[in-house]
Amino acid sequence: MILITGGAGFIGSALARERAAAGERVRVLDDFSTGRRERVSGHPLIDVREGDIRDRAAVREALAGVSRVAHLAALASVPRAELDPEAAARVNVDGTLVVLAESRRAGVSALVYASSCSVYGDAGERPIAESNPLTPRSVYAVTKLAGERHVLLHHRTGGPPAVALRFFNVYGPGQPADSPYSGVLARFSAQALAGERSEIHGDGGQTRDFVFVADVVHALVLALEGAAGEPGGHVFNVGTGRSASVREIWRLVAEAAGAAPAPTFGPVRAGDMRHAAADTRRAAELLGFRARVSLREGIGALLRPAAGNLADTFSVGYT
Ligand SMILES: NC(=O)c1ccc[n+]([C@@H]2O[C@H](COP(=O)([O-])OP(=O)(O)OC[C@H]3O[C@@H](n4cnc5c(N)ncnc54)[C@H](O)[C@@H]3O)[C@@H](O)[C@H]2O)c1
Repeated sequence: MILITGGAGFIGSALARERAAAGERVRVLDDFSTGRRERVSGHPLIDVREGDIRDRAAVREALAGVSRVAHLAALASVPRAELDPEAAARVNVDGTLVVLAESRRAGVSALVYASSCSVYGDAGERPIAESNPLTPRSVYAVTKLAGERHVLLHHRTGGPPAVALRFFNVYGPGQPADSPYSGVLARFSAQALAGERSEIHGDGGQTRDFVFVADVVHALVLALEGAAGEPGGHVFNVGTGRSASVREIWRLVAEAAGAAPAPTFGPVRAGDMRHAAADTRRAAELLGFRARVSLREGIGALLRPAAGNLADTFSVGYT
């Protein structure tokens, strides 16, 4: 059985449903702070537990009968972490330490950690390799980096065989679009469908490497399979290797939606990076991971009426 912390979240629930569809038993541990029960409820192979990763007893109980762990629970929003740095550290660092200690105690055979491209800070326009200097520019990024380092330290010192994945900008059906903290593609798509005007932070020239959620799930599965082998103890970028500016993705969304009112431009957000594109070579060579879904296909999936339906999400690039 696989334990997915944060398994009711956007990415965790996609992994939970993919694993269950593959016939694996899944346990979800989530405090539902941003997660939604309905994303994972009602599936016979998914056991959903409400609990906090900082609660040692809850984590220990959730690990009973578990052989693999995907640790995705986090305070996952850059602006929220800026507003409450201590809360971000308690969940992303202290919570990770509890998950690690209990996974070690339970003797799990593989653990994968969801890290973030934000650990690089601003690395310029060239694709960012894993060996790039790490100069995090936000509270969120510092906490994710600390979590990542703890995971790899456990790997080196007899803890669970582990892999850390640095996700770039993940998007796809099921990503919430209804708050100022939502991912930019989710917001733009929902606004375009509703005929509302979008706001772009800054001049829109900032670039991101947008990676579709089904590709990220594929990377998580490969990392779990590889943790006890050669990929174990490594960090890997999970992106497409291509970047697009925020202005460009607004245009792609407007095109796919048929029409959208011209955007407005607001202030730059604290902690935001200017550029991000993944160097994907290490993930391709060691993990065998390559993103399959193009931005155009992914945006098409976001705007389809069946968005959120798993079969539909995984039909893009995965059939
Ligand atoms: N979405 C992205 O673009 C992106 C990029 C880089 C890294 N990540 C990382 O991927 C992971 C998943 O992100 P997401 O986009 O699905 O975010 P999300 O907010 O949808 O998922 C996080 C989940 O963790 C749960 N959670 C939060 N605190 C918890 C706690 N104390 N105990 C138990 N559960 C708790 C939330 O309820 C939620 O279900 C996070 O670790 C995030 O830092 C995401």
